[in-house]
Amino acid sequence: MRHLMSPLDFSVDELDKLLDLANDIEKNPGKYAHACEGKKLATCFYEPSTRTRLSFEAAMLNLGGSVLGFSSADSSSAAKGESVSDTIRIISCYADICAMRHPKEGAPLVASQKSLIPVINAGDGGHQHPTQTLTDLLTIRSLKGRLGDLTIGLCGDLKFGRTVHSLINALIRYPGIRFVLISPEELKIPSYIREDVLVANGIPFTEVERLEDAMPELDILYMTRVQKERFFNEEDYVRLKNYYILTKAKMELAKEDMLVLHPLPRVNEISVEVDDDPRAAYFRQAQYGVYVRMALILTLLGIEVN
Ligand code: CP
Repeated sequence: MRHLMSPLDFSVDELDKLLDLANDIEKNPGKYAHACEGKKLATCFYEPSTRTRLSFEAAMLNLGGSVLGFSSADSSSAAKGESVSDTIRIISCYADICAMRHPKEGAPLVASQKSLIPVINAGDGGHQHPTQTLTDLLTIRSLKGRLGDLTIGLCGDLKFGRTVHSLINALIRYPGIRFVLISPEELKIPSYIREDVLVANGIPFTEVERLEDAMPELDILYMTRVQKERFFNEEDYVRLKNYYILTKAKMELAKEDMLVLHPLPRVNEISVEVDDDPRAAYFRQAQYGVYVRMALILTLLGIEVN
């Protein structure tokens, strides 16, 4: 039995196969419409979500399976003090596969150690968000045609942004990757990513504060939200929340084929006027999230469709 805790749980070859499968699902949805008949997906979300939970549910429904679950800790027995270890033992009796989001780093890993069914980390605190990374990789590969030889700007909350941490870990395995890390001092990338991942692997990167300075050299601009829920005090959040706002004027500084990605939800960091720019790919990215989660469910359940 296999779980997904980190994007690195898959080798580059396995990831290629998963992304190929996702592309085939996109092109031939009918071929997969009954692949998971009789199977159930549990979505155990201890933290709010729109895209991840609903795209997992859409993915399983598209595969002909069923879904059950809870969308907040308050609506589960976690509110009475039940541990994730006990909860997953119970979920193992009811479902064939589980996607779990939790505010505590490592909670899905703890669950996976007691689980009788595959567990997918659907985001754990400020740590990892591997299925967002799979979504990001599929989007980049589908729209750019490659995952190597790219200069990628990561902008906003690089300190708490789990999507950024997961994406860096995944992309350094491809040749010719260079990062431009764009953040205010307070939200800089943590040292366990800068030193232990980027420096340790000899990955070229620069750290800048002004988005305008980085724009002309980027192939991908990955915007992130300043996450209110990760701040310890309101004052710091209010000071930093509008630090970056991507506008039409800033887009004029970018390459004609640069792509703007964002894991979403967005608050103010991308002006709605940018949505109509053909380089704005964040809504297409959310659609790719369904295909890649379909591919992941099939892969973890060991279901092959010929
Ligand atoms: N991208 C993402 O994780 O969105 P949700 O929080 O809505 O699931």
